[in-house]
Amino acid sequence: TQTGKKKKKNTLTPLLDVTFTGAFGNFLVGLMKLDRVTVPEESDVDPAIAPCQNPKFGDYQCNNAMGLWSKVKGKGTQFKGHYEESPASEMVDSCSIAGPGFVNVVLSRPWIAKSIQKMLVDGIETWAPKLPVKRAVVDFSSPNIAKEMHVGHLRSTIIGDTLARMLEFSNVEVLRRNHVGDWGTQFGMLIEYLFEKFPSGEVANDQAIGDLEAFYKASKQRFDSDPVFKERAQRAVVSLQAGDEKYRKAWSQICEISRKGYEKVYQRLGVHLEEKGESFYNPYIPGALELLSNQGLIEESEGARVIFIEGKNIPLIVVKRDGGYNYASTDLTALWYRLNEEKAEWIIYVTDVGQRSTLRCSLLLEANELFGMFFQAAKRAGWLPAEDNKYPRASHVGFGLVLGEDGKRFRTRSTETVKLVDLLDEAKNRCKAALIERGKATEWTEEELEKTAEAVGYGAVKYADLKNNRTTNYTFSFDQMLNDKGNTAVYLLYAHARICSIIRRSGKDIEELKKTGTLDLVHPDERTLGLHLLQFAEIVEEACTNLFPNLLCEYLYNLSEDFTRFYTNCQVVGSAEETSRLLLCEATAVVMRKCFHLLGITPVYKI
Ligand code: ARG
Repeated sequence: TQTGKKKKKNTLTPLLDVTFTGAFGNFLVGLMKLDRVTVPEESDVDPAIAPCQNPKFGDYQCNNAMGLWSKVKGKGTQFKGHYEESPASEMVDSCSIAGPGFVNVVLSRPWIAKSIQKMLVDGIETWAPKLPVKRAVVDFSSPNIAKEMHVGHLRSTIIGDTLARMLEFSNVEVLRRNHVGDWGTQFGMLIEYLFEKFPSGEVANDQAIGDLEAFYKASKQRFDSDPVFKERAQRAVVSLQAGDEKYRKAWSQICEISRKGYEKVYQRLGVHLEEKGESFYNPYIPGALELLSNQGLIEESEGARVIFIEGKNIPLIVVKRDGGYNYASTDLTALWYRLNEEKAEWIIYVTDVGQRSTLRCSLLLEANELFGMFFQAAKRAGWLPAEDNKYPRASHVGFGLVLGEDGKRFRTRSTETVKLVDLLDEAKNRCKAALIERGKATEWTEEELEKTAEAVGYGAVKYADLKNNRTTNYTFSFDQMLNDKGNTAVYLLYAHARICSIIRRSGKDIEELKKTGTLDLVHPDERTLGLHLLQFAEIVEEACTNLFPNLLCEYLYNLSEDFTRFYTNCQVVGSAEETSRLLLCEATAVVMRKCFHLLGITPVYKI
């Protein structure tokens, strides 16, 4: 607000941010189109806009009008008349000023209704956010060959897939990278152990070393207890890296067995990934290091070649004392490759925030720190801009631990490590049992039962993970995640199925209604639901730019709550407003389905 000396009338400050999509973005663009405000393009105005905490004041509020005004005044900004005197725009019902610098906006009900109907006709894709990037790499899942794929990798797979889906929805081309650990020194010992167990030279088939984890453990034991074996294993690494055919063959055999194991998990989760493991970058390492070296970034330190990072006591080792490469050399090279060869503008790493194992990385560092160091080095090299919010950009999406109900690191009863396939199967089986208990075995075909149990079971595992702020630890509990009440996928999927059944029971052709009917939001609960639907675009944009899938979960849960309130207080089938209300049901179902889709959850249509 501008409070002039004469205290004439409050005036709406020009707010302009064309990158802001969603209802308020439209509102601002609308104001511009109406020619109410003009703002010089170069002024850096960032309106702090948020939904009103208390709906009593309005739908949206701007909290920094004063600050904005001081930024733009005297810089060619002009008002075309006072806002309150102008005829209301189609989008805005009313605007009020609450205290100095706060502007509350109430959107117009017909405009909300019209926007929803337009989405129903043109498709939810029209509500996709617009991001300033064309291509992104999402580096996720990324287990280590022959070692277990643990719940941490499951979290990475679930979170990474959702982020990829949100970016894809936003028309970003996503390279879904499985950066598998397929090139560490552990291969020397694995290959040597393989040769020892199968001396005929005939490389074992899958069955012979079927349990790779046990195989890994046994070879590790051998490595730790027998110095002669250890030496052979170290030589084996050299032979492998030099490309010796016999060693390469054994290596690829081991990788292949691991791969088959992961595939089972990915297939159940419906997650698609493209493997480009650490080995892929190996041939590029010398070139990438030379670039860094030419820029004077690499120094000699105690026989190793390192990069010093400002503010860190330990440098990033890129060539070990023995001349070998490590995790850091590979990751720096992968970053170079992704930026320069793959031309990605945003590179997103989804790994836990915790400590990395000593075997994988010679430095005992928190993953956060380690990635921070790569990014720092890349900035010094000029590969990335100095500012974190500029593109090309690298982001580390860290997440917390999975805990068991005992509050300790999650483990299953039988083995030390969690067998992920068994875990997913258990979720599904429990769902199936619950469906049978509800009498669905007689009502449905076996296939329907299976498909629904899968959708609900796997969906429950994903949602239980995604709904938490990813940086916190989360407790894995079947009982909680499979509860059909509360904030669970089961509850949400059933809520969606119920909406579908309302529409079915009406006997109306919803496609026809979309074209001929009119959506209207008469009851206050209809308006609340409508406004919430409209906010979908803003939420996806926020979840996507800040890489927080839990925002979308929260949105989805609130949506279903708003729907319940509407459905409790407004009669749909058989009422005078039937057509309009059926359209509102349909819009809710469409938005819910898109949320499910973005969260990697398969919707169910009947229950
Ligand atoms: N393989 C690593 C692990 O299991 C994760 C790799 C993450 N990606 C990366 N580019 N460093 O902890």
